[in-house]
Amino acid sequence: MSTSATGIKKAIRYFGFAVIGLLFLLALVAVWIYLASESRLQKEYEFSAEVDAPRAALIERGRQLAMSRGCADCHGDDFGGKIMLDEMPFARVVGTNLTPPSAGIEPRVRHEQLYRALRHGVGADSKALLLMPSGSFSKLSLEEIEALSAYLNTLPSVDHALPDSQMGPLGRALLVTGKLKDFLSVEVIDHAKPVVAAPPPVGSIDYGRHAAQLCMGCHGADFGGGPMTHGGPSAPPAANLTPDVTGLAAWSEADFIASMREGKRPDGSEIDGKYMPWRAIGQASDDELKSIYRYLQSVPSVHRSMKDASRQD
Ligand code: HEC
Ligand code: HEC
Repeated sequence: MSTSATGIKKAIRYFGFAVIGLLFLLALVAVWIYLASESRLQKEYEFSAEVDAPRAALIERGRQLAMSRGCADCHGDDFGGKIMLDEMPFARVVGTNLTPPSAGIEPRVRHEQLYRALRHGVGADSKALLLMPSGSFSKLSLEEIEALSAYLNTLPSVDHALPDSQMGPLGRALLVTGKLKDFLSVEVIDHAKPVVAAPPPVGSIDYGRHAAQLCMGCHGADFGGGPMTHGGPSAPPAANLTPDVTGLAAWSEADFIASMREGKRPDGSEIDGKYMPWRAIGQASDDELKSIYRYLQSVPSVHRSMKDASRQD
């Protein structure tokens, strides 16, 4: 009797130790995830940006860029900021208010902040921006960044009450285990690469090559398309944009321009505007879209069908 009773007691004690040990281990992992993510999220980056106040002559060009490069998709139609995603325990990501603060701030300083955000992926606080696609924008020319700055300075101040962006425990765990590719642009940008002064003339194939760099973040460096590294599991694969039968071989220039304006393929099917920013891109001028089309028709064909890439709708 008494021996088996002490046996049970012993077993309970061992079980208790095991549970405590496991909880201790879990706590250690949680602390590690927190510290490892915090060191990346709180790291301060010093990038110098010596720019003058933006020239007013570029305001109209800046308006066009702000409309056609998707800034409003994430920063709100009035550029006053917007909650992009609120999915705790993953993350809450808030597109910053880009209108001039009512307290007033020197246009030169605002231009510097914009330059560091687009070119390097860091915020006004010098820390990594979350989910801001600076990896693509870092290829904008100095003149385009200046134009955006000139335009944003002309906007009326908007003051929405918005929370700050924040990473939740799940987001942090994914970040430190390398599952969130491109989430912190600052970590993937080649900061040493020189910035071009101005874009090639609009209408040329070279301009198309320059502008199409903004498509690569989703359609791939070879424009052959495929599953995206971001957008979640329900996102369709990005389409093949090369002049192959599995891509845009059969599309005319007019088809391409119409698809960006109306969100429909030549066969009438709809292009998913939640993942493909056609509403924004469609606001580019005809000449810009023609350049992009001509450039895409000139890249090497890639034979890759998206029918095989699974669509989980
Ligand atoms: C896919 C969504 C997305 C697009 C497109 C986008 N942004 Fe952002 N941007 C964000 C998010 C999210 C933040 C805030 C990140 C954070 O809080 O860490 C941000 C931050 C910024 C900041 C930093 C503000 C600061 O100083 O802290 C600037 C400037 C900015 N964006 C400008 C632009 C401009 C200009 C464009 C268009 C050329 C643009 N963004 C397009 C998502 C986006
Ligand atoms: C944020 C990601 C993203 C960016 C940036 C982007 N695309 Fe897309 N694009 C997609 C996705 C995803 C699809 C597939 C949509 C669908 O299946 O409905 C797509 C589809 C398309 C299609 C339809 C082709 C077809 O056969 O289905 C065209 C054309 C296109 N994109 C052109 C462009 C061009 C040109 C640019 C740059 C100026 C660009 N995209 C930038 C994500 C993107």
